[in-house]
Amino acid sequence: MMTEPPHSPKTHAPKTNTPETQLPVIHPPETERMPATLSELGSPLVSARSAEIYHWQDGEILKLFRAGFCENSACQEKLNAEEAHRQGATSIECLGQVSIENRSGIVMKRLDGRTLTERADANPLHIWGLPYTLARLHADVHNARSEKMQDIRQIIAGFLQHSAMDFLTSAEKQTALAYLADLPDGNAILHMDFHTGNILVNARTETVIDWATAARGDAGADIAMTCFLFNEAELFPGISKAQEVFYNLMRRMIYRRYFRHYLRIRKLNKEKVKQDIDLWYPAVLICRLALWSAPTEIKPLQQKIRQRLQGLSTAQKITGKIAGKADAR
Ligand SMILES: Nc1ncnc2c1ncn2[C@@H]1O[C@H](COP(=O)(O)OP(=O)(O)O)[C@@H](O)[C@H]1O
Ligand SMILES: [Mg+2]
Repeated sequence: MMTEPPHSPKTHAPKTNTPETQLPVIHPPETERMPATLSELGSPLVSARSAEIYHWQDGEILKLFRAGFCENSACQEKLNAEEAHRQGATSIECLGQVSIENRSGIVMKRLDGRTLTERADANPLHIWGLPYTLARLHADVHNARSEKMQDIRQIIAGFLQHSAMDFLTSAEKQTALAYLADLPDGNAILHMDFHTGNILVNARTETVIDWATAARGDAGADIAMTCFLFNEAELFPGISKAQEVFYNLMRRMIYRRYFRHYLRIRKLNKEKVKQDIDLWYPAVLICRLALWSAPTEIKPLQQKIRQRLQGLSTAQKITGKIAGKADAR
């Protein structure tokens, strides 16, 4: 059932055809009825991690979140995607929100094409241009500004209440909150899941999709997340050791070249951006653990978060002592 129609309903006034006029009967096209059940939707076009993608109306798709994702997920992605579109960070238009058999979804304009991952899989020659495309699109996202999206620091502070963070002590959570409060402000649009699977391309256009995790803030946060995704995120489960080694080499090479192009496009200093990545890395690890529960990532993420928080706690204590001494003077 559409809770917000993607566009005005098509209605057709009945035409009269009297014997006197003997005009030819023109049958109006049947009013298109929106699918209201899963069986009416048919088979998904794509089965993705968080959602299944179905054909909706002509030129439109429905991203229907999997059971277990609350209505808020669809609502948040819709708000983010609309804002990203308004600010020029994506060409995909979001048309409305729907609910089908207790699953929430969003209707979007369809872009006929493939993801960068699919294109590179089909023809490895495309890997060559991939880092530059990534860098250019990421720079475009960061050059767009938003006052409306949620602040990334607040989002991550909220994640500390998430059950995935139950392994942390309350002192560690306090350290994390103090660290988050000290992170730099910003109003760049951040995607926070920027990788080759979230970029759709065809002969005419390249566009960033999947705005579920988007936020506003300092671009360092988003580059740090992309750094994590290309260097540390779980690869496809079930692959052989040899494949793992190969894919790891490939994605690290892609990341290094993406990073070089990104710095050049935005005229940024390499050492400064590396410092920003390091600064945001603990926040990104918390974000990843809260949003993504890949079984192979949970333990390593918990260990890394704990280590980073210990380092931060020591640094906070030293800073506190220095400040205390300065106050006492
Ligand atoms: N607007 C769109 N037009 C065409 N295909 C799309 C569109 N949005 C998503 N898709 C397809 O659905 C897949 C999953 O969408 P995505 O939003 O990335 O979901 P997930 O959050 O599960 O990763 C994409 O990789 C792409 O193949
Ligand atoms: Mg995606």
